[in-house]
Amino acid sequence: MIKKIKVKELTPGMFIHDLNCRWFEHPFFTSQMKVTDRTIVQKLNEHGIKDVFIDTSKGSDLLRVPEENLITADGNAELEECAEIKSKDRSLVTVRGELVKADLVKKSALTTVESVLAGAKLGKGPEIEAVESVVYEMIHSVERNKDALISIGRIKKVHEYTSMHSVSVGILMVAFGMHLGFDLAQVRQLGIGGLLHDIGKATVPEALIKKPGYLSEEERKTIQAHVDYGRKILENSPHLGEISFAVTDHHHERLDGTGYPNHIRGDDISIFGQMSAIVDVYDAMTSDRSYKKRRHPTEVLRMLHESENIYKRELVERFISCIGIYPAGTLVRLESGYMGVVLGQGERSLLHPRVRVMYNLKKQCVTTPRTVDLSRPSKKWGDDRVVGYESPDKWQITPHVYL
Ligand SMILES: [Fe+2]
Repeated sequence: MIKKIKVKELTPGMFIHDLNCRWFEHPFFTSQMKVTDRTIVQKLNEHGIKDVFIDTSKGSDLLRVPEENLITADGNAELEECAEIKSKDRSLVTVRGELVKADLVKKSALTTVESVLAGAKLGKGPEIEAVESVVYEMIHSVERNKDALISIGRIKKVHEYTSMHSVSVGILMVAFGMHLGFDLAQVRQLGIGGLLHDIGKATVPEALIKKPGYLSEEERKTIQAHVDYGRKILENSPHLGEISFAVTDHHHERLDGTGYPNHIRGDDISIFGQMSAIVDVYDAMTSDRSYKKRRHPTEVLRMLHESENIYKRELVERFISCIGIYPAGTLVRLESGYMGVVLGQGERSLLHPRVRVMYNLKKQCVTTPRTVDLSRPSKKWGDDRVVGYESPDKWQITPHVYL
């Protein structure tokens, strides 16, 4: 039974069917969730949400709260199930050895995407050959060391969000496709689709895309129409393959049918579309946007992993094994009391990445940077491990300078 109750009446074990507000008015990834602890109630209070709908067939009722449903939240416990997944990806060079080339690839991709979006504003379709050429550069960079290009793709300024997000989605689609073992022709199409997935946004007024706060129903529909606009622009491009269309057409569809524009469900969404949905949300939520602050990549991966009714869990786990629980360029805290920037994934497990250690948290001071491979215990530093992630803003650290 669906019941409307006060937020203050919510207790662990209940299942929220609807948050009774629009998606941009609440801080969660989905409007349906099990209440696992009081932090959900706290967040709802902070966002001024007074009432929600609960589904008593999926969780506890208002009058009966079974003790066994009082779950203690352990942020990354579920994610650690993926820890033993070992990436088969091998790097030909180090992150540092690839950084300069990766930066050139990113700049070239950004110039191409900006040109494509500028053309789309004038009703012009993209020059697929130029986009394809950038995708091949991405493929070669990912082959040499995927972590370099992925971490560079994460660096974006708020004003260039739309174009850099397209670049980043292109990079991640290439890396994800290669990780899943797709052939070169398929990876090429995945990359092209990733770079062009939001081309329809060129026809949406920029002020609306960047508008913070409340959006009217009409404004929300206008933004959502970017998928259909994109399809119309791309239909005029000869040589654009079906996989690229699946990436662009399905990147906002969700397994439970709550996505748009066609509310397709389950495996009616192609695997390429399901991949683009995961990648699109991951990059958006880990980036600063004009209307929302970024979240830590590990936190977003955990949310994706928990949302199995929305994103296929096996696919999310494969994405995590591709980029890591602690992706390259993120700031992590070590058991030894030091802090560092992840350089790439270790061989032993996803919980043991290679880290550039540069801050002593106990003494609260910067140290001489040193690289530690947590999958290989050292005589000098012992068997250290990652115990959590840190916010670069909190420590005023720019992680990528340590790569
Ligand atoms: Fe989009």
